[in-house]
Amino acid sequence: MNKTPIDRLHDYLVRAKNLYDRDSELQKRYSSADSEEFLRFIDTEGVIYFQELSDASFPFPPWTEMLTVGGETDIRKFLSIGYACFNSVFRCITPDNRKRKILDFGVGCARTMRFFYRYLDKFECYGCDVDKKSIEYLNKSMPFIDAYSSNTLPKLKYHDDFFDIIFCISVFTHFNKDLFETWMGEMYRIMKKGGIFIFSLHGTTAYNIISRESDRRRMIGINDEEFEKSKIKYKEEGFIWVPQPVGSSDIDTKTFGINFLDETRIKEIIPDCFEIIDYKKGELGGWQDLVVVRKK
Ligand SMILES: C[S@@+](CC[C@H](N)C(=O)[O-])C[C@H]1O[C@@H](n2cnc3c(N)ncnc32)[C@H](O)[C@@H]1O
Repeated sequence: MNKTPIDRLHDYLVRAKNLYDRDSELQKRYSSADSEEFLRFIDTEGVIYFQELSDASFPFPPWTEMLTVGGETDIRKFLSIGYACFNSVFRCITPDNRKRKILDFGVGCARTMRFFYRYLDKFECYGCDVDKKSIEYLNKSMPFIDAYSSNTLPKLKYHDDFFDIIFCISVFTHFNKDLFETWMGEMYRIMKKGGIFIFSLHGTTAYNIISRESDRRRMIGINDEEFEKSKIKYKEEGFIWVPQPVGSSDIDTKTFGINFLDETRIKEIIPDCFEIIDYKKGELGGWQDLVVVRKK
């Protein structure tokens, strides 16, 4: 019989606690089986190295899907980056006793959302993405996420005012200006009034790095000439977009490349139907910024 996500979670947590109770090395390193450090360890490393944990956890995504979301195929990096993103997002969410609906827009193979698994009593989890293979993986292997494969352009299937929280890591960072504005409008439509939208951007931190480091440009596939040409636009408009290679054939590369913006002009870029609550520079790995806005 198939286990429910709650049964699986219970099983996983019992195994983690048993592991802690019988391993004196772990007891020396972590203050208790419930400590945040130990939970982080089992979700990002223990789950790879201890068979008893990986058996009770969700199957890892195929390498092709890891490549699409992060540009690499190392499961350890995949989990540690995902955990860092989750932690950054989670810290922006004010605790509440109500169970809330949360969407990961551009969920991919749930590098970030997989860590919401522990909080199923607090969140109803939804995800959408244009990459069909990622959605197939989620529907088969991570049933706690209500996931579906969406289109390059709105509308999403959700009705107006549906979500309490939306988050979005490394997705708006890739849209050209038109798509950026179009999807901002759609996020607004599907959020409840007062709902929170948390998303990452490439601000001046990333722009300065990419301007300085030609190796970095090469590594992420930015063409030097295109980038050079766009610099004037950056000064004038505070927003540039250049093409970038992608891993999935479901992604439209005419509109999905990489953008950089000047966060000192953020109020011109974010529609004023949103109130900007927080702007965390370099929050994600000293590269992407994290913005928190509220639907007015
Ligand atoms: C860099 S990956 C990030 C994935 C995930 N948010 C994470 O942090 O692991 C960008 C994701 O955006 C998805 N994507 C691209 N265009 C999209 C669109 N118009 N609507 C929804 N998802 C899109 C891609 O398929 C890909 O999974």
